[in-house]
Amino acid sequence: MKIELEQLKKDFENTLRDVKDHVALEEVKNEFLGRKGKLKTLLKDVATLADEERKAIGKLANEIKDALETAYGQKESELDMRHPGSRLDQEWIDVTEPGKFPSEGHLHPVTQAISEITDIFARVGFTSVRAPEIDWDYYVFESLNMPKDHPARDDWETFFVDLPEGKKGKIVLTPHTSNSQVRVMETTKPPIRIININRTYRRQIDISHIPMFHQFEGLMIDKNISVVHLKGILDYFAKTFFGPNRRTRLRPHHFRFTEPSFEVDITCGVCGGNENGNCRLCKGGWLELGGAGMVHPNVIKAGGHDPEVYSGFAFGWGVERTLMMREGIKIDDIRVLYKNDLRFVKQF
Ligand code: DAH
Repeated sequence: MKIELEQLKKDFENTLRDVKDHVALEEVKNEFLGRKGKLKTLLKDVATLADEERKAIGKLANEIKDALETAYGQKESELDMRHPGSRLDQEWIDVTEPGKFPSEGHLHPVTQAISEITDIFARVGFTSVRAPEIDWDYYVFESLNMPKDHPARDDWETFFVDLPEGKKGKIVLTPHTSNSQVRVMETTKPPIRIININRTYRRQIDISHIPMFHQFEGLMIDKNISVVHLKGILDYFAKTFFGPNRRTRLRPHHFRFTEPSFEVDITCGVCGGNENGNCRLCKGGWLELGGAGMVHPNVIKAGGHDPEVYSGFAFGWGVERTLMMREGIKIDDIRVLYKNDLRFVKQF
């Protein structure tokens, strides 16, 4: 019986080796360990054995039974692991797979343009300053040679803040960044070279205007500054920001705070400068970048300096407009910049 028991163990182990799934495993279990299984059948006659022998066989039989059950248990967990959807299946890691990067956002195209413009001017010595975005009438209009009730003020569709007037007049949401001119001159002795980039506000909205937009204002004051310096800086900026293919032109214009004054135009980035008038954005090939000119003597005086000694130039352009005129960017409605549509923003 001892030999038969040992043989049974071997048989069980051999049979188990070929088992591939739980169904087959269950069958093998029944065959060997079941109520009518091989082990039970073999031990049927133990009771008839002599005492000594019965004890020995009984002990062996228990050991064999334990061994079979252990082997069965091992096989069972082995099959569990291999089963589709099992832990092994779910938890394996392919250590050679490239990692997943968290998705990264980026700055809004207008913010990108602001830092680029800041950099371009920094390279030619223009320090970045920040004049208030909500300011006194005095800095926005009066000190810029536009006395109270002057009709020129009507060009800036200004939002007034509903607060009592102070010594420097009413408080307004700055409709342009030119308020930096006298503010900087008041506190700085020439030579002055600054760039003020800030939010500006006007009561207008259409395809090329939004009530909140950005402007950048440049100001250079020193001895013997002429239009040549202005032209040089404008050309340098246009070349650096837009690339060599865009053309610029200076058109005579009138501003109260500059003399002479110009309007700076650049060929349209949507139609490439086609003057047939069909372009939805520019209607004639040219886009107005903004104003420029030689700072008016009255403004230099208001800033506390002698216009007989010092002269200078200034320019003020819209950031959004400038961005839209860039090569390869075909935005034909300024408002899309602030719709927060990720499909648009992600392209930058
Ligand atoms: N501030 C003017 C505007 O918003 C633009 C401008 C014109 C700025 C001429 C200047 C300048 O500095 O010299 O329309």
